[in-house]
Amino acid sequence: MKKNLVVAIDGYSSCGKSTLAKALAKKLAFIYVDSGAMYRAVTLFFLRNNVDVTDDAKVIDALQHIELNFHSRDYESHITLNGEEVSDEIRLMPVSENVSEVSAHKIVRHEMVKQQQRMGKSKNIVMDGRDIGTTVFPDAPIKLFMTADPKIRAERRFKELQSKGNNNTTLEEVFENLAHRDYADTTRKESPLVRADDAIILDNTNLTPQEQLDFALQRVEPLLAK
Ligand code: DC
Repeated sequence: MKKNLVVAIDGYSSCGKSTLAKALAKKLAFIYVDSGAMYRAVTLFFLRNNVDVTDDAKVIDALQHIELNFHSRDYESHITLNGEEVSDEIRLMPVSENVSEVSAHKIVRHEMVKQQQRMGKSKNIVMDGRDIGTTVFPDAPIKLFMTADPKIRAERRFKELQSKGNNNTTLEEVFENLAHRDYADTTRKESPLVRADDAIILDNTNLTPQEQLDFALQRVEPLLAK
């Protein structure tokens, strides 16, 4: 079997990228990398340390003090920021509200892309994000571009927040935040969210997680035999 097969999954916020990526990684025994978690962890560090994103020197300095690591437990991806587990905190609204600005920063993106490319060098991975098929791994043999109805996406993210005991955020706030992030992701100057020409569109508005997994497996499995 090939040793560094990369499955690139991109798409809008909260359209089930990580659910599919995790299921696919589990099924194929690949490593799952949640690239959004990296931008979120950097954002958390910036918030905690009052890093001014408009000051490039401060951003460069801050990045030198950030070490991110993934730990996979039963294909749930956990991220640590300088050794501290921050997987839950990075999903809360303060980070969600600031991550677009941080992830639009050229220097931040440059550093994250470098780290992401390193992870795909010698391993089989499924990585999800916004620019995986266009910038991080433009040669990935399989690229999926996920989308879903914005209302359905907001409801899914809202339920996820509630299930984690976060009852301070309304459905409207979640919807607004997603709309804002979609806009910021697709219009930013640095590697905006755009479908790679060779990415397969997967609209999962009316698909179950199993149907999405089957859709992806049908496209990935033939590559494994090669
Ligand atoms: O996938 P997510 O919603 O957890 O990502 C958080 C933010 O990070 C999202 O608003 C856009 C940004 N992001 C990015 O710019 N590039 C990536 N490869 C992944 C995420």
